[in-house]
Amino acid sequence: QRPVTDAQAKPVKTLPDAQTVTSVTHWTDKLFSFRVTRPASMRFRSGEFVMIGLMGEPDPKTGKQKPLLRAYSIASPSWDDELEFYSIKVQDGPLTSRLQHIEEGDEIILRPKPVGTLVHDALLPGKRLWLFATGTGIAPFASLLRDPQTFEDYDEIVLTHTCREVGELAYGAELIKSIPEDELLVELLGADNLKKLRYYPTTTREESPKMGRITDLMRSGQVFEDLGVPQLSPETDRAMVCGNLAFNLEIKELLEGYGLEEGANSDPKHYVVEKAFLD
Ligand code: A2P
Repeated sequence: QRPVTDAQAKPVKTLPDAQTVTSVTHWTDKLFSFRVTRPASMRFRSGEFVMIGLMGEPDPKTGKQKPLLRAYSIASPSWDDELEFYSIKVQDGPLTSRLQHIEEGDEIILRPKPVGTLVHDALLPGKRLWLFATGTGIAPFASLLRDPQTFEDYDEIVLTHTCREVGELAYGAELIKSIPEDELLVELLGADNLKKLRYYPTTTREESPKMGRITDLMRSGQVFEDLGVPQLSPETDRAMVCGNLAFNLEIKELLEGYGLEEGANSDPKHYVVEKAFLD
C-alpha cells in the first residue's frame, strides 16, 4: 500500500462546527459584515442569534485551545443559502480584535443552535411594527426585513436606527435600498407591499438630516410628527428593540409608558428586547 501524500489527503476541517467565510465587507474602521456557509441542516427563525467565534489562544500551561464564542444575531433571512453577520471591531476585544481580520476562505466556528426573542412568534398580531436599533443592533432586523412574513403580518413597518456617526448608518441604508430591488421579495409580495417599510435613521454625534437619540425624539413627539403616525399604543403597535444596554432600558420604559407589555416566545405580547453584542 502506497502512503497517502499531502496532495491526495482529504481536506480536514480544523475547527469544530467549522463554516467557511464567503465574503467580508468593511463598512467603517469599526464595523464590518461577513457571510459564511450555512450548515445544511440548520433551520432558524428570522431575528434569532447563534454563537460564533474562533479558536482561542493555547492555554500557556496545558497548550489546550478552547473555542472563543459570542452571541451574534443572524442578519440574513431564513431562506438564504448563506448566513450573514454584522459586527463591531474592538481593538482589544478578545474575539473581534481577531475576527475583524477574517478573509474569504477562512473558517469560523458556528454552533448551529439558534435562539432568541426577536421573533414574530413572541408578538401578538398588530398593525404597525416598530424596529428600534442602535449600532450593530440593526442585525436581527436585517434578517426580519428580508423575511416575507414581516410584510405579510403588518400594514406598516418602521425601522429606526440611531448611531453616533453618519458612516455607521451605511449598512442599514444599503439594506433599505436593497429590499425593493430584491427579486424574491418583489415576486412574493409585490412592489407595493414593500412600500410599507419606513426608515428613520438618526445620528447623535455627527451632523445628519435627522439628529438626536430616538428616545428623545419619541419623548418630544418629533418622530411621530415626522412619520405622520400616532404615538404607540398596545391596540395597534408592536415593537422589537435591539441596541446597547442603556438604550434597551430607556426604550423599555418608554414602551411600558405607552401601555405596551413585554412578550416572550411562550407568552406573546406587544414588544420584545435583546441586547446587541459588544466584545
Ligand atoms: P449618544 O451618542 O448620545 O451616546 P454606542 O455606540 O455607544 O453603542 O451608541 C450607539 C447609539 O446609541 C449612539 O447614537 C448613542 O447616542 C445611542 N444611545 C446610547 N445610549 C442611549 C440611550 N440610553 N437611549 C438612547 N440612545 C442611546
